[in-house]
Amino acid sequence: MTEEINYSYDGGLYAELVRNRTFGPRRRDVPYWVLAEYGDAQAAIEPDPHTGPSQDLNYSLKLMVTRANPQNQAGVLNSGFWGIPVRSNTTYKGSFYAKTDSAAIGPVTIRLLTDADDRVLASATVSGLTSEWKQYQFSLKTDAIRESSTNHLVVTVGQPATLWLSLVSLFPPTYRNRENGNRTDIMQKLAAMHPAFLRFPGGNYLEGEHIPDRFNWKKTIGPLVDRPTHASPWRYTSSDGMGLLEFLEWCEDLNMQPVLAVYAGYSLAQDHVNPGPDLEPYVQDALEEIEYVTGGADTKWGAERAKDGHPQPYKLTYVEVGNEDQFDRSGSYDGRYEQFYKAIKAKYPELQIIATTPVKSVRPDVIDDHYYRRATDFFHDTTHYDKTDRSGPKIFVGEWATREGSPTPNFGAALGDAAWMTGMERNSDIIVMSCYAPLFVNVNPGGMQWESDLIGYDAMHSYGSPSYYAQMMFSTHVGEETLGSELENGTPKLFYSVTRDSKNRRVFVKLVNAESQPQTIEVKFPGANLAKSGKVVMLSARGTQATNTIDAPETIVPKETTLRNVSDDFHYTAPAYSIQVLELTEP
Ligand code: AHR
Repeated sequence: MTEEINYSYDGGLYAELVRNRTFGPRRRDVPYWVLAEYGDAQAAIEPDPHTGPSQDLNYSLKLMVTRANPQNQAGVLNSGFWGIPVRSNTTYKGSFYAKTDSAAIGPVTIRLLTDADDRVLASATVSGLTSEWKQYQFSLKTDAIRESSTNHLVVTVGQPATLWLSLVSLFPPTYRNRENGNRTDIMQKLAAMHPAFLRFPGGNYLEGEHIPDRFNWKKTIGPLVDRPTHASPWRYTSSDGMGLLEFLEWCEDLNMQPVLAVYAGYSLAQDHVNPGPDLEPYVQDALEEIEYVTGGADTKWGAERAKDGHPQPYKLTYVEVGNEDQFDRSGSYDGRYEQFYKAIKAKYPELQIIATTPVKSVRPDVIDDHYYRRATDFFHDTTHYDKTDRSGPKIFVGEWATREGSPTPNFGAALGDAAWMTGMERNSDIIVMSCYAPLFVNVNPGGMQWESDLIGYDAMHSYGSPSYYAQMMFSTHVGEETLGSELENGTPKLFYSVTRDSKNRRVFVKLVNAESQPQTIEVKFPGANLAKSGKVVMLSARGTQATNTIDAPETIVPKETTLRNVSDDFHYTAPAYSIQVLELTEP
């Protein structure tokens, strides 16, 4: 599950290196940019609310240079998202929009400099600026250097003149070399989890604080210059570089299906739209969004997607109407859901429509349940779905996590997660999907709004929490059948589930020992024919507070060993504080 929170995209997965590339908001100060004067150059900067490169970016940064020459330049400096990571022998692709009041301004110089001593790591120039707004491209190429993120970007000129700038952008190589793409290290971590789907764009980010701050998908597609940016409910502005199509491309790159949440007429500050005619435009908007995702290039919005660079439609099975609408105190969700449900089913009968809370007006296909808890709460509730009515809607556990550990969960949290996952897995006849949330956190000071997030990073490095590895162990040993099983005389904090992958003739026994003592169990498969030797994948720690960090990223990682003497009745000892998958083979 993903949304713009904790600098998940800007300063996170989305590989853009320039912070506040559009110089918003239009007030006196321009955050993350400062004036740069070298030698005896003199200049001033201010936001200009009167001119910009497009209707959506109709403001810019004005740089007024009163004294400068090619050796003593003046301009602006950006320090990125907690630094700009610069690596050896790498080409960075950049661009900006600009205009000038004087053709004599000469070339614009773009440089990556070290923070410590202004050493030039890479440099490029762009010439030919005019009095009209135009986009300019450049590349910055590094040689063999000491890699670090304590660097900044400067854009300068060497003649007195006025320069207006907008959308200054710089990208490193991205995952699969996508233009406007994603950070490779984080994508690789996600790929290793083998995710089946991605729930987006929220979460609260879908809803926004007020209705105008919602995830308004039409304002997130097409050229970046036509994306106005918007306020995220997590207290910073989203560049919207990660727009609807980028979410879909992200799904494509990791072979995931989108689980698309559509805005349903409720925002966090209790703004709501009444069902009926007032809601109709929002319903239409959702239908058009679904067409943008799934429609052929011969449909209006499918054609728009093709124009944006993706002629092939995306496969979509689930659409979620809203997010956590139990918090809408007006009680309007029943009516809102019904209106969306009927309109979507009429046009797309094959779609499964998720409700965010139970409703009476129609029978939802799926209900989305959320759980943020302490490990103990999960330990006590692993049987939560054992007795759920199988004739009711299916269940989507669309947000859940053990919230212990900051910024990322510790091993105690991973035990809570794994225990809870055994319960979900045993009930996977009714739980059609589940997804951990939130996925990401930028661990720099001020980067986190929500504690206990699966994957942490700074500008240069990323790491998986113990919970990340627990997820990975479960998601890479899924099976497609839950075997009937029983645990006799178990201790209170021993949890399990048993599944079979019949195609690959494997049985997976997942065991979670959250006790501080080892536990020996007798594993019985009456009459089964199992190979004598199997495999154990184990994640364990000496204590619940043990964890991974940005500086010690691999303290707790899964280890694989051989399991010997497997039979239809064998003993296995689960160490104290351990999560393990026993992989047994049916020859
Ligand atoms: O995951 C963080 C937030 O928790 C989500 O935005 C919201 O849906 C939930 O309350």
